[in-house]
Amino acid sequence: QMDAFLDALMAEMTLPEKLGQLNLITTNIPVEEDKLAEIRAGRVGGMLGGLFPCTFGVNGPEGLRAVQAAAVQESRLGIPLLLAYDVIHGHQTVFPIPLALSCTWDTGHVETTARAAAREASASGLNWVFSPMVDIGRDPRWGRIAEGSGEDPYLGSQIAAAMIRGLQGTALSNSDSVMACVKHFVAYGAPEGGRDYNNADMSPARLWDVYLPPFQAAVAAGAGSAMMAFSAVNGVPSHADQDLLDKILPGVLKVSDFDGIPEMIAHGLGDEAGQIDAADPLQTLSERALRAGVQMDMMGKGFITRLEAALTAGRVTQAQIDAACRAVLEAKYKLGLFADPFARFDADRAARVILAPEHRRAARAVAAESCVLLKNDGDLLPLAKTGTIAVIGPLADDTRNVLGPWAFQGDPATAVSVLAGVQAAVGAGATVLHARGANITEDRRMLDLLNFAGPKVDLDPRSPQEMIAEAVEIARRSDVVIAVVGEAAEMSGESASRMDIGIPDGQRDLLKALHRTGTPVVLVTLNGRPLTLPWEAETLPAILVSWFGGCEAGNAVADLLFGDRVPSGRLTTSWPRHVGQVPLPYDRATTGRPGSADNDPGKYSTRCYLDGPSEPLFPFGFGLSTTRFSYGAVTVDREVVHGAGPLTVTVSVTNTGTRVGVETVQLYLTDPVASVVRPGKQLRGFRKIRLEPGQTEAVSFTLTTADLEFHDPALNRVWEPGRFLIGVGPHSSDLKTVSVTWLKD
Ligand code: IFM
Repeated sequence: QMDAFLDALMAEMTLPEKLGQLNLITTNIPVEEDKLAEIRAGRVGGMLGGLFPCTFGVNGPEGLRAVQAAAVQESRLGIPLLLAYDVIHGHQTVFPIPLALSCTWDTGHVETTARAAAREASASGLNWVFSPMVDIGRDPRWGRIAEGSGEDPYLGSQIAAAMIRGLQGTALSNSDSVMACVKHFVAYGAPEGGRDYNNADMSPARLWDVYLPPFQAAVAAGAGSAMMAFSAVNGVPSHADQDLLDKILPGVLKVSDFDGIPEMIAHGLGDEAGQIDAADPLQTLSERALRAGVQMDMMGKGFITRLEAALTAGRVTQAQIDAACRAVLEAKYKLGLFADPFARFDADRAARVILAPEHRRAARAVAAESCVLLKNDGDLLPLAKTGTIAVIGPLADDTRNVLGPWAFQGDPATAVSVLAGVQAAVGAGATVLHARGANITEDRRMLDLLNFAGPKVDLDPRSPQEMIAEAVEIARRSDVVIAVVGEAAEMSGESASRMDIGIPDGQRDLLKALHRTGTPVVLVTLNGRPLTLPWEAETLPAILVSWFGGCEAGNAVADLLFGDRVPSGRLTTSWPRHVGQVPLPYDRATTGRPGSADNDPGKYSTRCYLDGPSEPLFPFGFGLSTTRFSYGAVTVDREVVHGAGPLTVTVSVTNTGTRVGVETVQLYLTDPVASVVRPGKQLRGFRKIRLEPGQTEAVSFTLTTADLEFHDPALNRVWEPGRFLIGVGPHSSDLKTVSVTWLKD
């Protein structure tokens, strides 16, 4: 049915109308007259929002209805528009940033929050979201690490699939579904030096084993579209990488990133033979992008202005243009836009679902489960709801930064600060005092960059000494200090790389002064990336990482601080001691000189640093509870496995503490001898369990040969028989292992 419909439609379309479908532009709402004119002429295939969030009012269906009406009722063929937006971690109900969400290790939560985001976005008239970002992030200097699911491809793939299920729902045509756009294809998360937009160079096997799997998982889950990365990988920008686009993204609508096609000019790219039209390089690169398989041009304007000439000159074919146009039309068809272009414009539904109580409840629960407890000496947490509690720090009384980057539709007025969360939790039982204590940063250069697109990070005009003195005075009068410090939202996200990933100096000075008062300090960090916290981890008794937790962040943090919920988040990135250690993924391969221990004194026997340990401060998978768990021996149902398996691995986990707890039991696999050097260990299973005090649960995992596979240098997916080590435990650096032999038959 779809094919017949699209055949008939395309038979009617002129070349400019077809090229119009490949054109994706940004706009304000209400839409400017010149853009409406283009839409009426059928020359615009979709609308993009995201860069003008202040004026792009997509928080209700009214603004977008007019633009859809112009396309459907006034253009010659009445082809509806794709209406897109960056819905990254919720729409108006803002959920924790994706990196935080991944720390729940709970694909159910991922799906639930994506579903809620889709319900709200679709109720605003949107039908396409530029999410999920599935880029594996292994360099915490890179600001966009905040938008992904961390460093591990196994976990990242499961989260990618859950995001697609949540966003696209049971059918794309449902009026509460939106088309997902998996991005950024590919290896955008591996920029050299951690600097956004930088290129990456890596072995093809690493690309296939680490960076491609989440894209493959998203495609397998039915992702409707994919966005190219700005960066070049192994010398080829994705916008020109025909080979990879063909292999990984067949049947998926492929869209450029914003200006990604013209940006290949600055990359110094020519056509496939290294030639360029010097007078009009956009001509050459628009042609190349289309030939490579890019089907929509976001803001580059080359597809709409250059492809007619390219066709006449025979440098692109009618078939290539038709294929791209058809991909766009197919997406619209599958979204049900031809059947009813206005189905998503329903003011009643918008009023019901936007910021719905069930969305807020989910936001609070998920934000709490995203937080990671890194330290809790002397069981300082949970705190009593009595006495005098000082809530100090530039991010304590904050309802804007808690929303995190890419939360354009989140209204700070709907968000709960940590201060408000603490006040609500303790009620009249305790006295809550507050001081700002420091500015987020005093670094003028950074402030200028953070405030580049309008005032975002405010400055208290008082001197650092004055602010610290006020905070110290309050701390001295208190039984406990909750210090809420870290990053401004703008310090992570796009174009927000940092070379120093510690807590900014002024805030660290504040922490030191608070510590000197002798009042116990609970450190609560707001952050979009792993931070280096060596002094804090050494000195302060309790550390809770709350990331950018979204609109319920303050309540969620308070739930954990006062024991109304139990901390259960686990890191999905390794946390270095020092930025000089990065990248430091847990699955790094051993070298020929592994040493016997991290601080092996033999200078030439290990890959050590002269001035510090090699190991991370907090390893991948790490996170504490307010109870304790003990692991029994790891057992297998057979010591020799033949053929495909499966192998069952079991471990008993006991809650040996006095509080209920939630543990994420993790399984890692090691292939100790192979034809190539393999990762030291790889996550191959995880289970989240809730145990009452004294309760024991046997947790089983099933492994098959799919878990043993890797790409050999010729990029064949292989597994090699022999011995494997299976480690199970609470995190990647604390495993009990068992050895099995796995044979081909
Ligand atoms: O979706 C984003 C992308 O992640 C970065 N460039 C702009 C796009 C649209 O806003």
